[in-house]
Amino acid sequence: MSQNNTTINNSNLQETPAQSSKLWAGRFSKETDTAVNAYNSSISFDARMYKHDIRGSQAHAAMLAAQSIISNDDAVAIIDGLDSILNDIETGKLMFDPQAEDIHMFIEAELTNRIGDAGRRLHTGRSRNDQVALDLRLYLADATAEIRELILNLYYTLLDLCRSHTETIMPGYTHLQRAQPITMAHHLMAYVEMLSRDIDRLDDCTRRMDVMPLGSGALAGTTYNLDRNAVAQKLGFKAISLNSLDGVSDRDYAIELASALSIFMMHLSRLSEEIILWSSQEFAFVDLDDAYSTGSSIMPQKKNPDIAELTRGKTGRVYGSLMTLLTMMKGLPLAYNKDMQEDKEAIFDAVDTVKMCLPAFTGMLSTMKVKSDSCRRAAAGGFTNATDLADYLVKKGLPFRNAHEVSGKMVRYCVEKKCALEDLNLEEMLTFSNLIDEDIFTAISLDTCVRQRKITGAPAPETVAAAIEAAAARFN
Ligand code: ARG
Repeated sequence: MSQNNTTINNSNLQETPAQSSKLWAGRFSKETDTAVNAYNSSISFDARMYKHDIRGSQAHAAMLAAQSIISNDDAVAIIDGLDSILNDIETGKLMFDPQAEDIHMFIEAELTNRIGDAGRRLHTGRSRNDQVALDLRLYLADATAEIRELILNLYYTLLDLCRSHTETIMPGYTHLQRAQPITMAHHLMAYVEMLSRDIDRLDDCTRRMDVMPLGSGALAGTTYNLDRNAVAQKLGFKAISLNSLDGVSDRDYAIELASALSIFMMHLSRLSEEIILWSSQEFAFVDLDDAYSTGSSIMPQKKNPDIAELTRGKTGRVYGSLMTLLTMMKGLPLAYNKDMQEDKEAIFDAVDTVKMCLPAFTGMLSTMKVKSDSCRRAAAGGFTNATDLADYLVKKGLPFRNAHEVSGKMVRYCVEKKCALEDLNLEEMLTFSNLIDEDIFTAISLDTCVRQRKITGAPAPETVAAAIEAAAARFN
């Protein structure tokens, strides 16, 4: 079966549909207007939930029989009929009817075509409102698990890159001005921490997604003696929803997922921005692999970081989905309202976007070359050791504020002289403070600056190496 839901969705849509008769037609004396049909229909985007809809219906039917609400024969006919529908969809034999109102109606109508009356018994004690809530939870739980896996791949790719660069000195920045020397591994480990929280957030979302809403009915439960826990167990849910109105009208799980994905994309976008800067000739900290770069149609020399730029761009799209969901829900009275059909395109687009970004982004990182020499050269310029010079004076007894001032004056002197602090000779240094000694040169060398920062969370190579191994063991 194709993993690409969009492909299934489109390729299985019938070209010239027949007008399907509605399962709720009883109350109506006219056919629905054609424009209304198209407007109301969600099958073009909810067809991708066909597997989850079928699984849910099979669990519901088995439970109805176990509770003697329908006969065993009917349940078997329903379950087998649904299996044959699933098979026919996946082999391309059954096309989705674009005239169908949604995937739920399509499958139920198809089932009844195939097995007759038993198919008409499937919807006993169930509403599309709790059915769609169930399907979306099942679908998003699968999508979340796939995204978690893709984020973990990126996480391990970053860790590998970090392992190779615990000694690669580069400038750390604040205000995008060179600040203090760090290492490439230390810098990238900041993103490992972000991704670690992203994975935690997905796990946390999953916990609240893992609630089974069937039995909520349209809004007020049902008079049938449904065994809700049996359905939950069969479908692998940990819990059942505890209020029928909330069961059909809660979309927190979609909003939480969109929010977790938005935060994740914000992290990816920040890293994208750095990679865009780093791959410029102005920084030249990294070289992107040709397979993960693109050229220009006019400028023959160009090699552009399009993957990083697209990731930065697509981040806005995921935020858009979050805003759509929050805005869609904010004015809705309990319980289900048709507005909620808009949840799917928004959350599906967020999921699709993240699933599309990750493999490209991970590939770009795993093939990216760090240019250690230019990283080090950049750290050597810009007085990134000025704090260490002040700290040297503090260790010799000077109060930090005075030391800060002395170091600042020495920086100003060097700016005029167009040299680095370590280029001054001892005599020149002594004119700023008589506490300075021959040991200053080791104290303010880039290597010392990095190596001496050994406290937890700091860039010393052995500290970062330990952080890398701790992070590598985190999700085992
Ligand atoms: N297609 C609908 C949705 O996505 C299914 C629920 C319809 N329920 C209803 N009462 N019209 O929300």
